Order: sequence, then C-alpha cells, then structure tokens
Amino acid sequence: MPDAFDLVVTGGRTFTPMGLIEADVGIRDGRIAAIGALATADAAERIDARGLTVLPGVIDTQVHFREPGAEHKEDLATGTAGAALGGVTAIFEMPNTKPLTLTGDDLDEKLRRAAGRAWVDHAFFMGGSAANADRLRALERLPGCCGVKVFMGSSTGDLLVEDDATLAEILRNGVRRMAVHAEDEARLKARRHLVDGGAPPARHPDWRDEQTALIATRRLLALARAARRKVHVLHITTAEEMAFLAGHKDLATVETTPQHLTLAAPECYERLGSYAQMNPPIRDARHREALWRAVADGIVDVIGSDHAPHTKAEKDRPYPESPSGMPGVQTLLPLLLDHMAQGRLTLPRLVDLTSAGPQRIYDIAGKGRIALGYDGDLTIVDLAARRRIENSWIASKSGWTPFDGMWVTGWPVATVIRGHVVMRDDALLGAPAGRPVRFADCLPG
Ligand code: DOR
Repeated sequence: MPDAFDLVVTGGRTFTPMGLIEADVGIRDGRIAAIGALATADAAERIDARGLTVLPGVIDTQVHFREPGAEHKEDLATGTAGAALGGVTAIFEMPNTKPLTLTGDDLDEKLRRAAGRAWVDHAFFMGGSAANADRLRALERLPGCCGVKVFMGSSTGDLLVEDDATLAEILRNGVRRMAVHAEDEARLKARRHLVDGGAPPARHPDWRDEQTALIATRRLLALARAARRKVHVLHITTAEEMAFLAGHKDLATVETTPQHLTLAAPECYERLGSYAQMNPPIRDARHREALWRAVADGIVDVIGSDHAPHTKAEKDRPYPESPSGMPGVQTLLPLLLDHMAQGRLTLPRLVDLTSAGPQRIYDIAGKGRIALGYDGDLTIVDLAARRRIENSWIASKSGWTPFDGMWVTGWPVATVIRGHVVMRDDALLGAPAGRPVRFADCLPG
C-alpha cells in the first residue's frame, strides 16, 4: 500500500513537463510525489480541479513589501497575503526598506520578521552600494538571499549607485545574477527641471525619458561584459532597450511588468494621474507594442510585478512630490491570464514568464515546474472566469490598484504552497506557512 498523500488535486488539466495534460497531482511532505491518475488515492486533503487548470506556482521576482521602516504602506504579512490571493506562491523582496538591506544582520531581520507571518515563500535581495561592495561576494550567498539589487537611478529610498567605478566594483564582487534598475542618475538630475515646482503627472515619462533608460542599460551591459557578470535588467520599458538587449542575451536576462504591458500614456495619466506614476515610467503605445513583441520574441525572460505600494494620501500629493510606484503582486496573474484570453500570450509562454523563467534565471532549487521531487507549489486557475478587479479585493495596506474596475477573463482560484492550501476562492486559509526560497547555487553544506 503506497503512503497516503497530504494533498491530491484531481480532475484538472495540469501543466507538466509534457505540456498541458489531464493529470492529477499528489503532494507528500511538501513535495510533488505523483503525477497521473490519483482519483482513488488515499489523501488527507483533496481539491476537485474539474474545469480548472493547474499551473506551477507563480513566482514574483520583484516586490517591495516595505518592512521594516514603512509598514504604514505594507508589511510582510499583508504583502504576502496579497500574493497568495493573487495566485503567487513565492516572492523576491527588494532592499529599499528602512534600514536598507545591506548586511547579513539586515537580511536576518527580514527573515525573522517573515517567519510565521509570510503567507508565501520568500527571498530577499541584498542592496548593492559603495558601503558594502567589498563584502557582496559573501552576502549574496547567504541563505534566504536571492542576489544583489542595484539602483542606478534614484527612486523610492536611498539606495543608489551613480558612478561606473562603484558599479564595476559591485559587478566584480560576486558571481550570482545581479538585478539592476537601469535609469541614468546624471540625466535624471539634468532633466529634473522639467517637472520641478509642479507639472502634470503626464510629464513623468518626459523627465525620465527613453534615453535615461537606454543610457543606463548600455552602461550596465558594458560594465557587466567587462566583469563577465550575469545581470537581470528590471522593468524594461522601451523599444530601444529591447532591441539593444536582444544583442546581449548571453549575459542579460530581461524583466517587464504587467503595468507596462497593460497601461499606456497619455491615457493612463489622464485617467489615473499620479496613481500611474512609477519608475521607470509607463510610456506610450509604441513602446507597449515593442514590449509585447519582445515577449513574443523571447527577449523577455520574466514578468515581475514591481509591487510598490504607497498610500492614497501619499499618491495624492501634487506631482512630482507624489511617490512613484503602484501595487501589483495581487493583479499580476489575473492581468496575464486576461492578456492570454485576448490572444497576446500562450499558456506555455505565461508559465515560462512566471515560473520556469524565474527558476532558470535565479537558479531556484525545487520550484518552477510541476515535476516529481519539486516543491508542491501550485497555482490553480479558472481560465474562463469573468471577474472584475476591485480595490475591495486588494489585501495591500495601500488599499488600491490602478486596475480597479477592470474586467478580466481568467482568475486564480487556489494557491498551494508546498502542499499547504493557503488560498481558495478569494479567501486565505490556515496560517502563514511561507519559508525562505532555496537556491541551487548556494545550497548549504
Ligand atoms: O516606481 C517605483 N517604485 N520604482 C522603483 O524602482 C521603486 C518603487 C518603490 O519602492 O516605490
């Protein structure tokens, strides 16, 4: 008699290494233990997935959860609750908190705060700066760390590497893929007068223009090549950067965001004002089309939400005093499922961008596919569901989404983390069970 499963998911269409097939999934001790016909198998818990599609757990590799230091905007409990409600099973969190994440102690503090409060699995970026450049080789390998993140242009928080010498030193001091926000600080400073003293939010993409992004991305790739260091260029927003990055796929992986694939200037600024303000900015439809082409052509490796919550009171300050960023971890998957329903994505491409891609570029151990021995992380979706995204559904402390009122086709109906069902039918279940993500290139012992 084989051992009973902790959870079986039966009757669904499951995205396996063989593609989308009719197959049940059995999870035991947190790992996928069987894929096949399990309708009569003994199990402590069952999910009837008839009519549903079972995907590998969605991994969001760019979120800002604000803890410690700005918990009035978000914290690790509310941020990860939003993740679970949105069908996301693991998140990588950014280092521009207060204090910045720059030391082993800063990382330990985040891991300690996440224990017992995080609804999903998690890892934290180490900020790269002049202050810790010579220690990054050790810091980037600490358990619970997903790698180093560098800001080349100022955004929210104080993390900034403006000059090539420091960036080169950071690139030399480590081997793991390094994540970079590429906007050129010198050009940002030189153009700030365009919006200083007040301007409509629609000027945001003029201030932080295409050249601001392209100059930084070019500088980064020149230095990364000299250092022979792999980089991950975050939230790429321009046609020109995509064309440039297509020539550097041996070294650079590329992220774009659901916001940049869904919204476009000038309409988004007319409708949302500073609620559409983020860095790098939402640009016009020409760039949005180029991002979709880059998704289709395989230049894009990953879609991350860049979940960057700010309160409504903060967003209501007159531009440019209003902070940049918008929540997104909870809407990432509904938006992508809707784009798929509209024919802009296929299911294999969606899975590649949200599970297999994150696994591949960051060398995540045991996640990113539904395969024997992998973590029992599942995102179960109803591809036919017609649903309306509403502020009232958003778990983020910020309490809003730029997609409020939007109808979508496709919705996450269950989130399973290592066999724990943490969300079903828009409700959180059980207790926060998130654990640190493990990385194959830094497994202990
Ligand atoms: O718009 C943004 N907001 N871009 C960033 O790079 C940072 C983020 C935040 O933390 O608010």
